[in-house]
Amino acid sequence: MKKLILTLLLGGFIMTGAFAKTAFVYFSATGTTERMAKNAAKEMGADIFEIQPVHKYTDADLDWHDKKSLSSIECNDPKSRPAIANKLDISGYDTVVVCYPIWWAYAPKIVYTFVESQNWSGKKMITLCTSGGSSLGRSGKDLSKFAKGADFKGGKDFTRGSGADVKKYIEGLLK
Ligand SMILES: Cc1cc2nc3c(=O)[nH]c(=O)nc-3n(C[C@H](O)[C@H](O)[C@H](O)COP(=O)(O)O)c2cc1C
Repeated sequence: MKKLILTLLLGGFIMTGAFAKTAFVYFSATGTTERMAKNAAKEMGADIFEIQPVHKYTDADLDWHDKKSLSSIECNDPKSRPAIANKLDISGYDTVVVCYPIWWAYAPKIVYTFVESQNWSGKKMITLCTSGGSSLGRSGKDLSKFAKGADFKGGKDFTRGSGADVKKYIEGLLK
């Protein structure tokens, strides 16, 4: 009997999300997304991990006026999957908030490398970006197509807004 009550209670906790764990995973080339993700994760008491590129992007790599810059080449190649230097593992989390800068209206290709490297089954995915003004657009939806099995809840541009604003938005999505 005791065991049954315990099981029911535990089940209830899990169902209501009392044990739900959230991780923020971000890529940032020049620090804007990093600041946004760190503020939000702190506010939510969530774990946070950085997607670290093997090749660190230089200013020349990030020059979007140059069709031959590394970022331009990557953005124009649907098959581009830049290598990640560190080990990332979302297996211990129920919700993963993927944060990135907008590059040519989409997420940088290294973020695709990350989502494809993980097992998303049974996990909720949220995408947050920073941008120069073009906003999230279709970037979150497109990324979620490569996160096989993920339950994509939506996303938003948080170039502006506090950690508390992000927390409120995420709690709304997970209701
Ligand atoms: C290669 C490249 C392409 C970009 N493309 C866009 C774009 O299509 N739309 C936009 O609003 N901002 C664009 N931006 C601006 C970034 O999204 C914005 O500055 C972002 O906040 C940078 O984040 P970070 O500091 O975390 O790297 C681009 C920046 C770079 C480097």
